[in-house]
Amino acid sequence: MKIGLISDLHVEASEANRVLVAFLIDTIKAAELDVFILAGDVTPKLSEFYEVLGEFNNADLTCQKLFVPGNHDIWVSKDANMTSEQKCRVISEICQDHGFYSLIDAPCIIEEIGFCGTIGWYDYTFASNKYDFSTEQYVEKQLMGTVWNDKRYARWAETDQKVAHRFENELNKQITFLKDKVQRIIVVTHHVPFRECIRYRGELPWDYFRAFYGSEGLGMLCLQEPLVTHALFGHVHYAVNQQVKNVKAICAPIGYLYEQPTEGLQAYAEESLACFSLAIA
Ligand SMILES: [Fe+2]
Ligand SMILES: [Fe+2]
Repeated sequence: MKIGLISDLHVEASEANRVLVAFLIDTIKAAELDVFILAGDVTPKLSEFYEVLGEFNNADLTCQKLFVPGNHDIWVSKDANMTSEQKCRVISEICQDHGFYSLIDAPCIIEEIGFCGTIGWYDYTFASNKYDFSTEQYVEKQLMGTVWNDKRYARWAETDQKVAHRFENELNKQITFLKDKVQRIIVVTHHVPFRECIRYRGELPWDYFRAFYGSEGLGMLCLQEPLVTHALFGHVHYAVNQQVKNVKAICAPIGYLYEQPTEGLQAYAEESLACFSLAIA
């Protein structure tokens, strides 16, 4: 089974980000994938989200398409009459309309391989060890004039820690559901599951914001279940392909294309899509 992963399309960021989608679709077709996974941060704008998923749908890809939302996808504007929980439900409906399987609603099994997923969130367990900020300071999501924009646009009903733990619990339930039914399990999150995958810079304000990258609990769930062989994620805008104990951690983001990639959009799409093959017994 050939699996392809991409995240952080951020089509709202620039014209190049938006135009890249067509090149990415061509790349996915050429890769002859069995499963394509989109791990969040498509765009905060619902109309644009609908349009982009529609573009994938209209391309008549033969592979299965799986999705988890990112933090930017669940952002709501101040005057919108909607919470992030409600936006998650709208996103799932759009996925359904466009042939994407929304992993946050239920896990799925494809040829004896289980796929499960959650957006994940952060509980500050990835806070830098070098600094001694209090929980209250992380709750602020603001340092030295820079704001983590979830503060402005994410609208959950609970604290960050409760949201993170709720998503961890949902993931745990999915893994439990799958484990006596499949040969192996692939976990998909938007937020980062392992501290080992975070690049700390040893400087502020940068390392303060690492606290908003993910939660240790996501990774622990992956490591404690021997059937989990891969943890796929997004959110950080650098590629990761790293073995963390018995789990392969992969991130394959597009990121913000404020300048055209020098190698051209087609080549950029090709080098960004992470592909790997799994043997099926
Ligand atoms: Fe992102
Ligand atoms: Fe993100």
